[in-house]
Amino acid sequence: MDFKELKEAALSAMKNAYAPYSQFHVGCSILLDDGTIIKGANIENASYGLSNCAERSALFTVYSLGYRKENIKKLLVIGDTDDVISPCGACRQVICELVNDDTEIILTNLHDKYKIVTKHDLLPFSFTKEDMKK
Ligand code: THU
Repeated sequence: MDFKELKEAALSAMKNAYAPYSQFHVGCSILLDDGTIIKGANIENASYGLSNCAERSALFTVYSLGYRKENIKKLLVIGDTDDVISPCGACRQVICELVNDDTEIILTNLHDKYKIVTKHDLLPFSFTKEDMKK
């Protein structure tokens, strides 16, 4: 699976974004260990706070299908930004819980820019389920 194929998948998801309020379309594609690619887009709501980002749409679909963090190899996010897109705080928290330490997170844009990070780069010192153990 190359970068181009994963980027194409995220681009096609981006076209399905439901973003009548921000007009800002975002796509996410997730590569699984069996070769499946799951896609997600941002879905907004008239009650703005209920909007869901592309990253969470894609990750929730992955989990709904029965896959888990150990199945997730790569997650790519794309948006029409000058620099690479940067996931919001809520998505960083969700990504931290739902992907592996070594999952490649590829942040990109409509041009040739991309950055590969891990969940720890996105959200260091995060709150996790371990923190609730006494
Ligand atoms: N958005 C995403 O889907 N992912 C990001 O990484 C950044 C922001 C969405 C949320 C909202 O629908 C729109 O972009 C504007 O914030």
